[in-house]
Amino acid sequence: MDTAKEKKIRSVAIIGAGASGAVTAAAFKAENYFEHIRVFERRESPGGTWIYDASPPVSIPIHPGALAPEIDPPLSIPASLPTTTSPSRQERYSQTPIYDNLTTNVPSIAMSFSDLPFPYGPFCPHHIPQQYIASYFSHHRTDSFLVLNTTLENLTKLPPSHPGGCNRWKLTLRKHDPLQNLDSWWEEEYDAIVLANGHYSVPYIPFVPGLQSYARNFPHKIQHSKTFRSPVPYHNNRILIIGNSASGHDLSVSLIPVAALPLYVSRRSPSRWDGALPPKKVVWKPTVSSYDPNTGRISFSDGTKLEKEDVDVVIYCTGYQPSFPFWNSAVNGGELWDYTRGRRLLGSYQHTFLREFPSLGLVGVPRVLTFRGFEYQAIALARYLSGRAALPSGREQKEWEDKRVEKVRRERKKFHDIPWEDGQTFEWLGWLYLFAGLGTLKGEGMRPPVLGEDVRWAVENVRKYPVKLEKHGDEDKGLVEGEGWVLIEKQRKDLLAFI
Ligand SMILES: Cc1cc2nc3c(=O)[nH]c(=O)nc-3n(C[C@H](O)[C@H](O)[C@H](O)COP(=O)(O)OP(=O)(O)OC[C@H]3O[C@@H](n4cnc5c(N)ncnc54)[C@H](O)[C@@H]3O)c2cc1C
Ligand SMILES: NC(=O)c1ccc[n+]([C@@H]2O[C@H](COP(=O)([O-])OP(=O)(O)OC[C@H]3O[C@@H](n4cnc5c(N)ncnc54)[C@H](OP(=O)(O)O)[C@@H]3O)[C@@H](O)[C@H]2O)c1
Repeated sequence: MDTAKEKKIRSVAIIGAGASGAVTAAAFKAENYFEHIRVFERRESPGGTWIYDASPPVSIPIHPGALAPEIDPPLSIPASLPTTTSPSRQERYSQTPIYDNLTTNVPSIAMSFSDLPFPYGPFCPHHIPQQYIASYFSHHRTDSFLVLNTTLENLTKLPPSHPGGCNRWKLTLRKHDPLQNLDSWWEEEYDAIVLANGHYSVPYIPFVPGLQSYARNFPHKIQHSKTFRSPVPYHNNRILIIGNSASGHDLSVSLIPVAALPLYVSRRSPSRWDGALPPKKVVWKPTVSSYDPNTGRISFSDGTKLEKEDVDVVIYCTGYQPSFPFWNSAVNGGELWDYTRGRRLLGSYQHTFLREFPSLGLVGVPRVLTFRGFEYQAIALARYLSGRAALPSGREQKEWEDKRVEKVRRERKKFHDIPWEDGQTFEWLGWLYLFAGLGTLKGEGMRPPVLGEDVRWAVENVRKYPVKLEKHGDEDKGLVEGEGWVLIEKQRKDLLAFI
């Protein structure tokens, strides 16, 4: 057991005012222990992913295969602080990917926090979660903690304030002032930090031979779903969509009515909702093997090709990557995230705590039930940092990490993907539930909710994406067809793999 009571943590900075930050602020306030709580948010309002940006950048830089540290590097910090500078023009990917007709894809009973229902459901337009997150701050009177328009640009470990205590943290913050058109910079110190900074901001585009030059030679032809807002600009365009998860699916459905047909969809593996054959008006292609930047030809891994005149626009729906440009790895003693091998937090415990940094926690990293999952993480962190719950020893935490690394390696899964169907979600939430416990007898601390039958039933039975029943077998078998053959994939996707 660690000696959490020795930590004497009184001030906490939460980074991000999305769903994770909202519930973290509520949990820390309810603990009735912390003296100073602030939520730093780079946007001008809370809502995170759910803020709708009607005018995204016309295009974002295309860097195939590039990882977040290369495309979202730290800003250089002014030599002496506080100070003001002209506004930073560096792309920080802070706009969101929300498009006009986006609706939620998790039933509202499972997507909402347990103490405040969504106004309606089961699936609702994107403005509902945005309003809901903003209301959640006022519902808990944590709106006064918000420091908006303010980006954490550097997070540096400081020595503990007393023997046996935890490291403290120095934050370098930048606030954009649109009226004066300048950036103000300053520093603050906190006893503890919770990173709730989201991980769907920095687009990911895989490396494909020729793609970089192709994007240069054919400007605006290569796009990412992050900048898609509506099908209107794509009227009569010949389109190739890459990826068939939630974004690939939604964009395809939006574009079919306006695009020149067929719509090409390149799939690396079948989605859970894919049938044996593509929907009408869609042609499935395998992955792209190369782009020819001179002729405009696109070649696929099965040897087929699309010529320049077959495709006007390629939209990469290949997801996002976490980014922590503020993490001062030189002083903090190493990287926070492993981008190359494990694609995971380094030294994490239960996807929430960090072995080497007891006064630093994260909410929202795993791919699992979203808002409801964040709630369990936030309550567990509040309980731990208040000293009312203690973590197992560093050795036991390391054993957990090693076991998880081994398990995901064996099963060819990702470290922070927590599937629903094999019971892992229930087990993980159960751990957080028991760890946080009831709070104090005086009523201090939020209580983690039960994951009741109603929520579990909704997750399992209320689906946004209808699953095709196959003539060849049951709905869960991912089928891939070729001429005269059918391959039944051994690894079908989890019920919540699209989250
Ligand atoms: C297109 C799309 C659709 C989605 N649809 C669904 C859905 O239907 N249902 C569902 O459950 N989930 C959905 N998700 C997942 C969604 O991201 C989560 O539901 C949830 O909103 C994530 O919340 P978060 O607070 O962890 O992250 P975010 O919502 O990303 O919030 C993080 C916040 O941190 C801020 N921030 C980041 N870095 C800094 C910094 N350095 N300094 C200050 N502030 C910073 C950001 O500006 C942002 O406001 C969707 C995601 C995307 C991309
Ligand atoms: N509410 C909604 O309706 C809605 C809409 C859009 C997005 N979202 C959410 O937004 C988040 C991101 O979703 P997303 O669909 O943008 O990303 P995603 O879920 O991460 O899916 C990425 C897709 O890209 C494919 N891919 C990745 N690397 C590839 C490569 N090297 N070559 C070919 N294909 C590759 C993946 O294939 P594999 O499957 O084979 O890995 C997958 O189809 C999720 O939380 C999702 O739920 C929600």
